Amino acid sequence: MKFDEQYWSGKYLQNQTGWDAGSITTPIKEYIDQLTDKDLRILVPGCGHGHEVHYLYSQGFKQVTVIDLSAEPYKTLRPKCPDWPDGRFIVGDFFDHQGEYDLIIEQTFFCALEPGLRQQYADKMHALLAPGGKLVGVLFTIPLGDTQPPFGGSQEEYGRYFAGKFTFEVFAPCYNSIKPRAGNELFIKLRKQP
Ligand SMILES: C[S@@+](CC[C@H](N)C(=O)[O-])C[C@H]1O[C@@H](n2cnc3c(N)ncnc32)[C@H](O)[C@@H]1O
Repeated sequence: MKFDEQYWSGKYLQNQTGWDAGSITTPIKEYIDQLTDKDLRILVPGCGHGHEVHYLYSQGFKQVTVIDLSAEPYKTLRPKCPDWPDGRFIVGDFFDHQGEYDLIIEQTFFCALEPGLRQQYADKMHALLAPGGKLVGVLFTIPLGDTQPPFGGSQEEYGRYFAGKFTFEVFAPCYNSIKPRAGNELFIKLRKQP
């Protein structure tokens, strides 16, 4: 099966959004809460309903861009961020996106991609980050779907994709996951190496 725009829009249209935590998750919120520079250029790929995106908006961050294959989740997200320009809500493929960011936030995007794309994901993150920029978020560290998302994996496996390209500032079991994900997530804070 191809996990393309049709696949993901179908999930939204049928309300099959089991991945959606319903609000910003604790690890991402606590990370955002210690950021002081509201002008950071931030990308949230595969943002879906983007609860953390709305949170960034509410906290006064100004330079946030989101990209999702499906326009469906923007129907709820876009109206929640009225002061941001339309151009920041991109419908498209993350792998085709061009730009430069200080921070990229990961939440249930990596696990939505076919595992064969994981090295490409790490390489693309590296390409999109400014010198010293960071990829921050959570990754599932349990086996999950065999044939369709979410796809799981292990800390050891994930480490291989980022090695040599990023400094692992944090790459450890997440201590503040939301309850349903507790014990099953890795928190990552990876700084781009030149
Ligand atoms: C599992 S959902 C997670 C959504 C959101 N991050 C959340 O936690 O609620 C994965 C999202 O990634 C999007 N997606 C999948 N492949 C993509 C790609 N190549 N480029 C951009 N978005 C993609 C899907 O449309 C979907 O909205």
